Amino acid sequence: MAQRFVDRNIFMTAELWGLASTPPYGHRNDLTTIDEVIRAHGGDARDSAARYKSAAEEDRSALIAYLKTLVIEQ
Ligand code: HEM
Repeated sequence: MAQRFVDRNIFMTAELWGLASTPPYGHRNDLTTIDEVIRAHGGDARDSAARYKSAAEEDRSALIAYLKTLVIEQ
């Protein structure tokens, strides 16, 4: 992502909006699903990833269903 408006020591994360329309994910574009990319989070997001992994299957499914609504309309 270009950082035209912020200093280079600030890490700009990708926006969630449109997420469902932008696979594959990650630096290497090797993560094909939303489930995989959430599980791959580390660093400051490690706790969130751990909570996702230990959540009930129906809660993970509900979250993924919501995230799949974040599409970019052409
Ligand atoms: C359920 C919650 C989350 C979802 C669905 C999510 C989704 C994503 C996705 C799809 C990407 C890849 C973007 C791309 O490659 O195009 C990403 C990257 C990233 N996310 Fe999240 N994220 C979540 C929570 C978080 C949290 C809590 C943090 C920080 C505290 C975080 C920090 C980052 C960072 C730093 C990257 C870039 C990592 C890299 O490119 O190697 N995310 N996230």
